[in-house]
Amino acid sequence: MSITENNTVLPNMSRRNWLKLAGVGATALSASPFLSACAQDSAVADTADGASSELAILSSNENPFGPSPKAIEAMKAEVANIYRYTYPSVMALTEQIAKRENVSPDQILITNGSQPILGHFSVWANSKDLTILTSELTYEGVPRVAEAFGSTVDYSPVTADLDFDLDTIAAKVKPGTCAYICNPNNPTGKIIDPAKLDAFVDTVSAQVPVFIDEAYLDIADDYEKQVMTKYVRMGRPVIVARTFSKIYGMAGQRVGYALMPADMIKEFASFQLLSNVNKLGLVAASASLDDTAHFEEMRVKMKLGREKLIAMARDIGRPIAENPQGSFIYMDTGMAASEFAAKMMDKGVRVVGSRWQERPEWSRICVGLPHEIEKCHAAAKEVLTSI
Ligand SMILES: Cc1ncc(COP(=O)(O)O)c(C=O)c1O
Repeated sequence: MSITENNTVLPNMSRRNWLKLAGVGATALSASPFLSACAQDSAVADTADGASSELAILSSNENPFGPSPKAIEAMKAEVANIYRYTYPSVMALTEQIAKRENVSPDQILITNGSQPILGHFSVWANSKDLTILTSELTYEGVPRVAEAFGSTVDYSPVTADLDFDLDTIAAKVKPGTCAYICNPNNPTGKIIDPAKLDAFVDTVSAQVPVFIDEAYLDIADDYEKQVMTKYVRMGRPVIVARTFSKIYGMAGQRVGYALMPADMIKEFASFQLLSNVNKLGLVAASASLDDTAHFEEMRVKMKLGREKLIAMARDIGRPIAENPQGSFIYMDTGMAASEFAAKMMDKGVRVVGSRWQERPEWSRICVGLPHEIEKCHAAAKEVLTSI
């Protein structure tokens, strides 16, 4: 261990890895497509004020219906207490999640949104020189961050149906690797067959660490079958990441958590980059978990929104990644996605342009409020039927 100027304790890392963490990695990170994508999304969110804005924001995978009223009440009740540090609130939420997931509290890590968990996994894999096995078409939070720190990422192509190709990924597993799986996947919305995923996690986690990103899982039709927490209970090197940003409608409040082995949490914490979640986020998350009626209502609303987007794609005759299970569709626009996004923007609708270079003509379009989806439908019809 070494101590820095501001008394931060640094773990023993090789000079190469520390340099990557401190400088080169950070520079690369700030220029990474991942961060620029996030910056773009939040700039939009910051300047547009939802209902009063003309802009329909269908680009950021937020929950347009907002958080549970009970979460809002909980934050109001706590607001005068923000002068206190958060330890008791972290402990309370940890206990609540532990009970709910039937794991031990020391197997839970609560963070500012789930992105810090993804980022820490990337840095952790780098510190152990692990190659990350994943899909060429998935969320950037692990692979691009890992690359920015100098890790090797081995991207497998998706199948013809745009699914994660678990067989190909499993065939590459060997000592010195680990896997990142996003289920349902972002940007495709594809969900993995539960039996296949179970067999994959069972076999692979007996050999190497497996990270499963379940950010959108509770929006999926059959989500309970897909939850992979049992492998954490079994003591496997499995990390399951969840977030309050999606179905719980708290993207701006920043709360996420991981279920993972206790010793791995200690290793993540040793990077000293974790900070506790803010107090209001913690109480809002806790109230959200208790509000099962809001959760069920959001599941219905998200599904209805997704179905409207699917109907839109059918109406304008564009292919999509079939049976999407997240809060978005992934559509082949038949033109450069960046051009499609620019033309949609001219019509007051924000969609994702060319974030995934592997599919330059595909755009991800997220569930919005009903009138926003209608606006999107009308705009896409005009843009795409004129080509
Ligand atoms: C698959 C996936 N995982 C993780 C995240 C990170 O979200 P947050 O940090 O808001 O929890 C996102 C954000 O869109 C995502 O799409």
